[in-house]
Amino acid sequence: MKIAIVGTGYVGLVTGACFSEMGVDVYCIDVDSEKIDNLKRGIIPIYEPGLEDLVLKNYKAGRLKFSTNLRVVLNEVDVVFSAVGTPPDEDGSADLKYVLEVSRTIGQNLNKYILVVTKSTVPVGTAKLVRATIQEELNKRGKSDLAFDVASNPEFLKEGAAIDDFMSPDRVVVGIESDRAKEVMDRLYKPFTLNNYRIIYTDISSAEMIKYAANAMLATRISFMNDIANLCDIVGADVNMVRMGIGADNRIGKKFLYPGCGYGGSCFPKDVKALIQTATNKGYNMQLLKAVESVNEYQKGILFEKFVNYYNGDIAGRTVAIWGLAFKPKTDDVREAPSLVLIKKLIEAGVNIRVYDPVAMNEIKKRIGDVVIYAKDMYDAIIDSDALFLVTEWNEFRLPSWVAMKKIMKYPLIIDGRNIYNGSDVREAGFEYYCIGAK
Ligand SMILES: NC(=O)c1ccc[n+]([C@@H]2O[C@H](COP(=O)([O-])OP(=O)(O)OC[C@H]3O[C@@H](n4cnc5c(N)ncnc54)[C@H](O)[C@@H]3O)[C@@H](O)[C@H]2O)c1
Repeated sequence: MKIAIVGTGYVGLVTGACFSEMGVDVYCIDVDSEKIDNLKRGIIPIYEPGLEDLVLKNYKAGRLKFSTNLRVVLNEVDVVFSAVGTPPDEDGSADLKYVLEVSRTIGQNLNKYILVVTKSTVPVGTAKLVRATIQEELNKRGKSDLAFDVASNPEFLKEGAAIDDFMSPDRVVVGIESDRAKEVMDRLYKPFTLNNYRIIYTDISSAEMIKYAANAMLATRISFMNDIANLCDIVGADVNMVRMGIGADNRIGKKFLYPGCGYGGSCFPKDVKALIQTATNKGYNMQLLKAVESVNEYQKGILFEKFVNYYNGDIAGRTVAIWGLAFKPKTDDVREAPSLVLIKKLIEAGVNIRVYDPVAMNEIKKRIGDVVIYAKDMYDAIIDSDALFLVTEWNEFRLPSWVAMKKIMKYPLIIDGRNIYNGSDVREAGFEYYCIGAK
């Protein structure tokens, strides 16, 4: 089978690499010619564990190809996956301009049957728009009878574990409206679902909604735990104990119950916003998700607040260190990262900042430039600092040398935004220690 994947970002490149690993001939297409040129030279545009090896191996084997031109490859392939970005519009709804651009290109150049699958996260009704856009272009070319199918195949991979997630998915959701499309998707996903991983076939609207509902549910769990953690702080309970106590209930489950300094990334914030906006456009008020958002906004400011309270507002001119900039470990993605909010607040308050992240320094630098000092390692970051903020729980931050740190820092204050340290250990080592929802 031959497929094209349009959009060679986190989702498109992982999808392309994984399908090619299973023997499918894959064209990864992107409008960003620099990205495509780099990929042809073996330079991977993102940090994702295991991705480089997979891409290089399959590129060398000739199963994975890179191109900027969908027009040229379109009539060679059986399926086109669209994995382009769907960033938030001004009102928070998903901007479909890239998705529809791809649809137009397909309609303008298609000469044979094809299955067009949307992998990007898109609101209910988008597949209909994709179909209408392609059909309109075919009609203009006098090819109104040319058959094609559309399908929805939302992606659930997690950055940092994307290859494993794609290779061994919890489930694959496919929204279809024809047997022909189902047959194609069955064949493509067979290698990934042999070990009883499930393919869930639905109608297209439900598949589109499943992705938003899943992300909204996960964001809700995070905001719920953050709200509980903040209350624990006030009443003197320990959220780590509370988490274990409630997680032992099978109906609740242990996963995704970690409080912290707010959710970020390229998905939860934009998908929650887009779902709220979809509802608003239809005259429905998503009250719960609005609360989820406002708890998250509050939470992104909580580390700064703890710092201000500790120094009774006397923070201008102080120096702080930040460990971790990516929105979560094992990725260089800093989109909507809590670190960005913390850095902005600290700069506005006149605080000097030294930062360190194992892989996300370049990405942060592209966004904020030289307003902070980029340290060469985690210990360099804490030189002369009045506080250390732990913002991303990279493994290398988990067991630092407290003795060395005590010597390097100006004042031994640690504000842990991910609750990775044991409070009594840290205090025994001579530090003041604050975390989220526990003493
Ligand atoms: N990143 C994730 O963890 C994740 C997980 C699941 C779903 N998603 C969804 O998948 C979609 C893509 O996300 P991403 O993080 O991979 O985005 P990304 O920004 O990393 O990549 C998108 C790519 O599409 C390219 N592009 C834009 N218009 C194009 C066009 N007309 N033709 C060819 N290429 C074009 C861009 O140049 C870019 O390289 C989004 O809808 C996102 O919500 C993302």
